Amino acid sequence: MCATYIRCGAERHLGRESMGVLKHAQLHACREELLARYAGAVQTVYLDPPFNTGKRFDMKVRIGEKGYRTGAPTMSLPAYDDRWESREAYLSMMRDTLLLARDLMKKEGTIFVHIDCRMHAHIRLLMDEIFGESNFLNEIIWSYQSGGRARTYFPRKHDVILFYAKSRSYYFSLKSVPIARGEARSNHMKRSVDEDGRVYRSIISGGKEYRYYDDEPVYPGDVWDDVSHLQQKDPQRTGYDTQKPVKLLERIISCSTQEGDLVCDLFCGSGTTAVAAAKLGRRFLCVDQSPLAIAVSGKRLSQTGGGKPMDVCYDVEAECGEDDCFVEAEVFPAITSYTVHLAGFDCVAAREAGVKGLDAVDQWSAGFVQGDMYRSCVESVRTAGTPALAQTMEMPVCAGEPCIMIVDIWGNRRFYLPKRRY
Ligand SMILES: C[S@@+](CC[C@H](N)C(=O)[O-])C[C@H]1O[C@@H](n2cnc3c(N)ncnc32)[C@H](O)[C@@H]1O
Repeated sequence: MCATYIRCGAERHLGRESMGVLKHAQLHACREELLARYAGAVQTVYLDPPFNTGKRFDMKVRIGEKGYRTGAPTMSLPAYDDRWESREAYLSMMRDTLLLARDLMKKEGTIFVHIDCRMHAHIRLLMDEIFGESNFLNEIIWSYQSGGRARTYFPRKHDVILFYAKSRSYYFSLKSVPIARGEARSNHMKRSVDEDGRVYRSIISGGKEYRYYDDEPVYPGDVWDDVSHLQQKDPQRTGYDTQKPVKLLERIISCSTQEGDLVCDLFCGSGTTAVAAAKLGRRFLCVDQSPLAIAVSGKRLSQTGGGKPMDVCYDVEAECGEDDCFVEAEVFPAITSYTVHLAGFDCVAAREAGVKGLDAVDQWSAGFVQGDMYRSCVESVRTAGTPALAQTMEMPVCAGEPCIMIVDIWGNRRFYLPKRRY
């Protein structure tokens, strides 16, 4: 019953238009390929790079049906390493990334670089050099309540998002990002009702009355204090350290792109940019070197469809060993369909961690392989709503060889030809 391991270079979802690409790769290794395919095509880049914190970051994962039912993370797995030999090594990586981002952008494109107080001044100078001082647009302060309680200096409660254009003919629409008028902000103004019954606040300055109607939209300035950091129990939380809120990315994408435009995130982490882009009908190109990042991004996207033709393709570049894994799967062909059964899974890492059988599988799908392209037809993904994996799935007959894809709890994706049963 043991299935045969095969290599696949990419994964597509059958019968739906692709909305974007999740690419599992180190940036320096895929630079030329990205430029060959996307130079001059990207409308907006969002970068949330490592901040040179000197720390390692984890992802808290849930394991098996029980883990999902209780909701408690069961294991912490390494997601990415933010320790650098020197500040110069960090800045050299950032310089290469910013140059790549610039070359991927359209003439009308813009870039948002999310950073904190540690490297902000250095990155600002780097961006002045690469994009030109005259293309600087904003230094957005994202202010939040969460974070540490320092006693020897003021608690640090904001990140900086540097906003630059590629040229003076950039696209930007403030009208696309209205926000609710905050009570607190207008408390100091006199509240009145006009002759049509509309409520307004007013202030007199220089002998002139300024009216602000409650039913008129207001727009954000360069200090964003209306988007909170993800709280501990926020349902958006994936367990991936440093995950950003979707609302933040929705604002960035809405003001800088139009439907169908291409949004790029070269450090995509848990896939927040891809999720926001898909929700807003934008295409996305998202890269990350961590298998966990790509796995969790794919999983979030599979739950974000909302009826839109939303799809992902992966260029899987990480080696996940052939011999360290054992899969039991079989396929039963009928006239118009195939029944695929996943009976067992085991791998060296699972054994070492004491995780048994299918508990080490977080997602699997069944489909067909042609050349090195895997086309997924049906999938089963563990979520809080569906903690148990389907062990048997039906799929229509399509061109190619029946194949299954397994994503384990470490984010490794592997492809297998199940045993045929006639
Ligand atoms: C701060 S996190 C991004 C978090 C993301 N914005 C989110 O909402 O989840 C930075 C990401 O950059 C990735 N990364 C760091 N260096 C990289 C490189 N050279 N190539 C590709 N990805 C890299 C890390 O794996 C990590 O997932």
